[in-house]
Amino acid sequence: MGKHDWRTPPKKWNYKTRMAHVGYDPFLSMGAARPPIFSCSTFVTENAEKLENMFRRACGLDAPLAPDDEWPIYTRLSNPNFIMLCDRLQCLEQGADDARAVYFPSGLSAIFTTVLAVCNPGDTLIFGYPIYGGTDHQFRHLIPEKLGVNVVPVNATDLNEVEETIKKHADTLKMFFIETPANPSLAMVDIQAVADLTHSHSNGILAVDNTFMSPILQHPLKHGADIVIYSGTKSIGGHSDLIAGFAVDKDPQRAAKINSIRVSSGPTPSAYDAWLLFRSLDTLEVRVLRAQENAQKVANFLLKHPKVEKVVYPDFYDKNSAEWKIFQKQCEGPGAMITFDPIGGKKESYTILDNLNIFGLAVSLGGVESLAENPWFHTHLDVSDEDKEKSNFGPQTVRLAIGLEDADDMCDDLDQALAKI
Ligand SMILES: Cc1ncc(COP(=O)(O)O)c(C=O)c1O
Repeated sequence: MGKHDWRTPPKKWNYKTRMAHVGYDPFLSMGAARPPIFSCSTFVTENAEKLENMFRRACGLDAPLAPDDEWPIYTRLSNPNFIMLCDRLQCLEQGADDARAVYFPSGLSAIFTTVLAVCNPGDTLIFGYPIYGGTDHQFRHLIPEKLGVNVVPVNATDLNEVEETIKKHADTLKMFFIETPANPSLAMVDIQAVADLTHSHSNGILAVDNTFMSPILQHPLKHGADIVIYSGTKSIGGHSDLIAGFAVDKDPQRAAKINSIRVSSGPTPSAYDAWLLFRSLDTLEVRVLRAQENAQKVANFLLKHPKVEKVVYPDFYDKNSAEWKIFQKQCEGPGAMITFDPIGGKKESYTILDNLNIFGLAVSLGGVESLAENPWFHTHLDVSDEDKEKSNFGPQTVRLAIGLEDADDMCDDLDQALAKI
């Protein structure tokens, strides 16, 4: 055992220091300064009694331990690389000291399994649109059609509509789900206000997809949310080389339930991906802040470009608007996502996308490389035109995910692509 308790380092340490130490004790791995990859399906237990107790918890006969307190039995249930990763990710959430992370093989699997753990057939799930296209499909089709959950979309930026909808479904409401800033419109939803309305009118909880801001730029638990969801594929992974997801729950018992649903329904990430994610967490803050600095330069460049009609980026919200107030209250920076409308329509948008050299024509975000796509015809193809129009983006909209290249080079690349329209 090392000099300090590696699961719970001193509280007085800044989170950056905690992050560099929590979760891994080199003395449990022959002094290796960095953790090994526990690439094994099964684990040896000291005695039969202990193994029985572990199975009693795994089968629900005894109260479960939090997912990261459980000694591993078998990798589908848990693995040391998962435990280290979750211990470290938990350090980044603020506002709930007991929050526990559950690790999934994708962001969508984190969302689906969390809904499975919280909602039963006949219960109501309200979600705010716009939302990532894959989540929208899951909520509008898979969950109501296969699970019998009553799914109700609302415009979560309209608090009157939110309150009315919550009151209407108060008896059956189990979960309110929002994504803020929303994908791709960057619309801001007031986390504290939606949490207060959900908690005061129902027994439901609030889950927030925090993928766009990452645990560096927004802390939903601090603003009243109960569960934070991440696609770990994005800035947490940070190198476009894996798919991952997380649910971070302020209630450790509910986190254990979410993990047990994951275990029994089967989705299992790999130890190698967990090891990569653990390593990526070391540089998360540095990457997120650098990408944000680049995004601010690129957004300002686009704002002045004669062939650009509209740029959506949090720094540019009208200072008297509700969006600006929410941004100031709950975000710790504007992030690295930009959407812009070139003059013209789909044709002009495609001309830009086809002529960009630095920006890869690809979906996703949060990687080293900058990416560009057309949300109307790519990520959000499956969302109805009516909902897309209500969400403030059009067939001409281009979405940029800013990476770590040089910002001036990115501006030059956009300039030459815009010159082609
Ligand atoms: C905001 C947001 N949430 C969830 C997801 C789904 O994550 P994954 O692709 O890891 O399943 C995505 C994917 O793009 C996303 O952008």
